[in-house]
Parts: sequence; C-alpha cells; structure tokens
Amino acid sequence: MPLKSSTAFAFLLTFFLLIAKSLALQTSCNKDPYKQLNLILNPNGTITRPNKPPESLPALNSTLRVLSKDLSINQSKGTWARVYLPREALDRNSKLPLLVFFHGGGFIFLSAASTIFHDFCFNMANDVVAVVASIEYRLAPEHRLPAAYEDAVEALHWIKTDQEADENDWLRNYVDFSSVFLVGSSAGGNIAYNAGLRVASGGDELAPKIKGLILVQPFFGGAHRTGSERRLANEPHLALCSNDAMWKVSLPDGVDRDHEFCNPTVGNGPARVEMIERLGWWVLVTGCGGDPLRDRQVQLVRLMQRKGVRVVGHFTPGGYHGIQDTDPLKAKELYRVIKTFIHALSSQR
Ligand SMILES: *[C@@H]1O[C@H](CO)[C@@H](O)[C@H](O)[C@H]1NC(C)=O
Ligand SMILES: *[C@@H]1O[C@H](CO)[C@@H](O)[C@H](O)[C@H]1NC(C)=O
Ligand SMILES: *[C@@H]1O[C@H](CO)[C@@H](O)[C@H](O)[C@H]1NC(C)=O
Repeated sequence: MPLKSSTAFAFLLTFFLLIAKSLALQTSCNKDPYKQLNLILNPNGTITRPNKPPESLPALNSTLRVLSKDLSINQSKGTWARVYLPREALDRNSKLPLLVFFHGGGFIFLSAASTIFHDFCFNMANDVVAVVASIEYRLAPEHRLPAAYEDAVEALHWIKTDQEADENDWLRNYVDFSSVFLVGSSAGGNIAYNAGLRVASGGDELAPKIKGLILVQPFFGGAHRTGSERRLANEPHLALCSNDAMWKVSLPDGVDRDHEFCNPTVGNGPARVEMIERLGWWVLVTGCGGDPLRDRQVQLVRLMQRKGVRVVGHFTPGGYHGIQDTDPLKAKELYRVIKTFIHALSSQR
C-alpha cells in the first residue's frame, strides 16, 4: 500500500474504533449502579470489589529519600494514616509544612496503601519538601457520606491531640504547625473541603489550625449537567455513567446532588465560601480541560473570587481526570505548583 493511502486507512480505522468505543460506553451505562461500578453486593450485606489494584507497604529503609510508616487512628473503624517524612528533615532537624492528604476513588475505591497514592505521596513529600499524612477513611457504599468527612475530622483531631504518643514523633518533631494544608485529589478534594469546613465552622479546638486547601481535580457534582460533563460524557477516565453511579451509592439515601456533601455552589455553599474568606484560608484548585469536572471546578473558583477568597485556579489544557496518578511528568508539574503555592504563603506570614 502506498504511504498516503495507508495513512488514510490508519486514520479511518482509528476514527471507527473511537466511534465504536464511545457507542460501547454509551450503551454500557447500566441502570444498576453496583453493576456499573463492578461492585458485588453479597447476601450478607458486605461489598466485594473485584480486581483490587496493587498496594505498597510503608518503608523505613535507610537508602530511601522519604521514609514512611503507618499509624492507627481509630482501630474500631479501621482508619489509619501513612505518614511520609523526607530524609532532609531528619538530616537538618528542620520543621516542614504538613500536607494532610485524602486519596481519590469516588468515595468507593482505593486506599492510602494503593500503590498509585503511595507513590504520589512519596514523591510529593520529596518534591514539595513537606511531611505528608495520607489518611485511610471508610468507603461507601458500606459507609455512605458523611462517613468519610467524619473520619477526616477525626484524623485532624488525631493529628493535633495524639502527638505525645511515642510513634507520632514525626508529627511532633518535624511539623511546623503554622503551616498545615488539607490536600485531596478527586473525591479526596471533596473530603479536604468538607472536613476543613466542619472543623472551622464549629471552632473546633481539637483540630490543628488550617492554613489552606489544595484541591486537585476535586470531584464535585450537582443536579444539573455542566457543559464539560455533557461534552465529555464518554471520557473513559470518568464517564458520566460511572460518575452518576458513584454519587448514587455514596450520598445518603434520598438526597440529590445539590446536597452540600456534593455541590459547593448551591444552597448554603456561598455562605460556606464566605466563611473560608473570613478564615483567611488560601485555596489552590487545579484542573484540566479534558476532565468532565472542569466546569464545576472553574465555577467554584469564580464563586470564591466573587467572595474575596484568596484562591488560585491552575487549569491546563488537555489531560484527563486523574492524570497525575498515571503520568509522572504531570505529577511532577503538580508538585511544583503546590510548592510555589505554599512558598508564596510563607513569605506572607
Ligand atoms: C460476607 O460474604 C462474603 C462473600 O461471600 C464473605 O467473603 C465475607 O467473609 C462475609 N462477611 C461476613 C462478615 O460474614
Ligand atoms: C525496604 O525494606 C523492605 C523490608 O523492610 C524491603 O522489602 C524493600 O525491598 C526495601 N526497599 C528498598 C527500596 O530498599
Ligand atoms: C473510634 O470510633 C468509634 C466508633 O465510631 C467511636 O465510638 C470512638 O469514640 C472513636 N475513638 C476515638 C478515640 O476517637
């Protein structure tokens, strides 16, 4: 085949594959959210999640740039934290910012031990030069919202009040408690947002003072579709069907997606944003053009701007939901953005 027509053939083939793929995804939108998400509801009421993604152990090896260990938060709930300490802190005995990290997974999947998040936190601790505490929280549908938000609040209490425990020496010795940030990617962004507002609205003395929020592609939703959700309905990394199914099995029974657990811009959302302004928190929201959730993230940034919140929106073209978990260069770029954000703040103290 001459070059020209073979190129045309390859192009056509790609085109048809794309169409076939999008049709398959469309027709695969299952009315049963458990089936849609490949969750098996056992007769005894428990849930099985087949194809569990790989997990990593924490490590204290002397050759590693970042040390990590697991610490229990509440045994009866199975919550714990994986804490990461850059070796630099040990060598220089310096105090570092604390990033309290909440992983993504639509409130339903994955763990602080998942290899993608272990690697993400390890590299974030190294590149940002911060202590990271990655929080294991309870998942839906066994534990619907606000369980994850409550576990996050309990984790913040644990960070502040449990420092005298022997095994918490990293938090005690190496954290600068005037520089605590709540960080979350995807559903973890919602957890950071809601947990932060919970401790702030109650004037919670048991929680550390929060300096800011870092929301990486937060997984907000709402009852009405946005332009990017419609345009990217078949985006394979976060198809609208899966997005819908995740909210269906993680929100409390009988509430819609304009509930405050899901949509930060309706109802009492604007009043909560005003509280962020009064608290003086800085907020970083990152997103990308290929993520169906982009328009909601931009809406939140605009609302914050109108309310006078010190917010930085960092949006890049292209990409997809969760890109930093699979593309090391994108992750590295994100760490740089986070580091710049944090340093801009410390110079303003
Ligand atoms: C519930 O059923 C599942 C699947 O049959 C099983 O793996 C699990 O151990 C059971 N759990 C309890 C608490 O009985
Ligand atoms: C770190 O130590 C663990 C055992 O404690 C070992 O399994 C692992 O391979 C070591 N990793 C490195 C990078 O040396
Ligand atoms: C742990 O969780 C249980 C169950 O929710 C709760 O009753 C208990 O107070 C928690 N323990 C601590 C130390 O927070």
